[in-house]
Amino acid sequence: MSFGTSAASRLAGKTVLITGASSGIGRATAFEFANASGGDIKLILTARREATLVSIKEEIEKAYPKSKVVPIVLDVSKLSAIDAFVDNLPQEVKDIDVLVNNAGMVHGVDQVGSIAQSDIDIMFQTNVFGLIALTQKLMPIFKAKGKGDIVNIGSIAGREPYPGGAIYCATKAAVKSFTETLRKELIATRIRVIEVDPGQVETEFSVVRFRGDKDKADAVYKGVEPLIAEDIAEVIVFAVSRRENVVIADTLVFPSHQASALIMHRKL
Ligand SMILES: NC(=O)c1ccc[n+]([C@@H]2O[C@H](COP(=O)([O-])OP(=O)(O)OC[C@H]3O[C@@H](n4cnc5c(N)ncnc54)[C@H](OP(=O)(O)O)[C@@H]3O)[C@@H](O)[C@H]2O)c1
Repeated sequence: MSFGTSAASRLAGKTVLITGASSGIGRATAFEFANASGGDIKLILTARREATLVSIKEEIEKAYPKSKVVPIVLDVSKLSAIDAFVDNLPQEVKDIDVLVNNAGMVHGVDQVGSIAQSDIDIMFQTNVFGLIALTQKLMPIFKAKGKGDIVNIGSIAGREPYPGGAIYCATKAAVKSFTETLRKELIATRIRVIEVDPGQVETEFSVVRFRGDKDKADAVYKGVEPLIAEDIAEVIVFAVSRRENVVIADTLVFPSHQASALIMHRKL
């Protein structure tokens, strides 16, 4: 999708850091920034899978020769790695304009009483503590400029908790609370704090939830037409490419068959 010349000119020359860029929404967002800017963009793509990031870099730079893509391995759940990651960013991409806090995951559908402590730890470490640590570390860059965009990917799960999702829902509710505080703290600046809350999107998300069990993951999407990652990427890039005075503070994005976390119309 192209947003025309004004969106392209607003994005021109920006440096965008995307976490969880190796798959799904993060990957699609990288391509969408390249497309909407006409290639005039610098992207720092991070995740744990290095080879995947490198192949995304090659694909984007081939399609958009003006673009610069820097793939860097970053496990956001390893909080001790975040300082060094930011401190060692190559000079040409140090001055970050846009942070997309997208890395996130869910494990299992266990109910309270049977949730493995290791699952609780990894969900909070990744979805909440990693997001907070990276945002904190980048605040001086944003504050020095007095402007920029912080886009946090929440979820319908953060607004409407459901059985079997106690921990994942709590992590996304934490993201929502953190995001809203940050927006209020930055009220006197041009730093925009944006939350995008997807409903059901078909990515690797459910495969991760069911630990690689593709049949269980496919069953989630049986009889429905979920969103695709590009749908959310378009919303993210739309929000970032508005005039500086326009803050798309919060969006909830459903496919047409979905009206809440669990209310789905399934054609079976
Ligand atoms: N799909 C949905 O229905 C849905 C709905 C609402 C919200 N969301 C949210 O959307 C975001 C993106 O999810 P998705 O649907 O695109 O799922 P996905 O296809 O599984 O992508 C998740 C991304 O996060 C990365 N990631 C996971 N753990 C990480 C870690 N410790 N450190 C760094 N990167 C990590 C993964 O890369 P590596 O494995 O290479 O590290 C991958 O690139 C998540 O925050 C998710 O909660 C998804």
